[in-house]
Amino acid sequence: MNYRLALALLILPLPTLAETPQQIRAAYASEAAATQPGFSAAAQRGEQLFRQQFAVTAKMPSCTGCHTANPLQAGEHVVTGKAIRPLAVAANGERFTDPAKVEKWFGRNCKEVVGRACTPAEKADFVAYMSEIR
Ligand code: HEC
Repeated sequence: MNYRLALALLILPLPTLAETPQQIRAAYASEAAATQPGFSAAAQRGEQLFRQQFAVTAKMPSCTGCHTANPLQAGEHVVTGKAIRPLAVAANGERFTDPAKVEKWFGRNCKEVVGRACTPAEKADFVAYMSEIR
């Protein structure tokens, strides 16, 4: 291997798992389109999901219980009282940049609040809402 090639390989960026909210939204949208041809994510449906009172459990009737009615604001965990940084990308640039984290929390919170896993379509809509709200 010549010296220049070796150097080029050394300075190549390491693969990273970070993504943009647009990429995460697009990945969920294409997953949804597999069963709903022509699917396109909509922030308005994402907001409905965010505000809907599922009332599956008394403590966690809706997403707003911990994330407040305003995603631009910090929230508080209804059980532990721990502070939760805003979900909206405009207020918290770290949101929807780590696919594993996003999946983990959709998994946990949808199960608790909605009583089932959220569908790829619901996740795409939710990410759209959190990305677009200003
Ligand atoms: C019981 C409290 C609670 C409720 C109710 C709740 N969440 Fe969360 N949510 C959290 C906590 C805690 C975190 C992780 C801490 C953090 O990221 O700030 C989190 C993080 C998330 C994330 C991670 C986003 C990212 O990229 O960092 C998503 C997505 C999410 N919640 C979606 C939802 C949805 C959808 C609902 C309603 C169906 C919901 N949450 C309801 C507590 C809650």
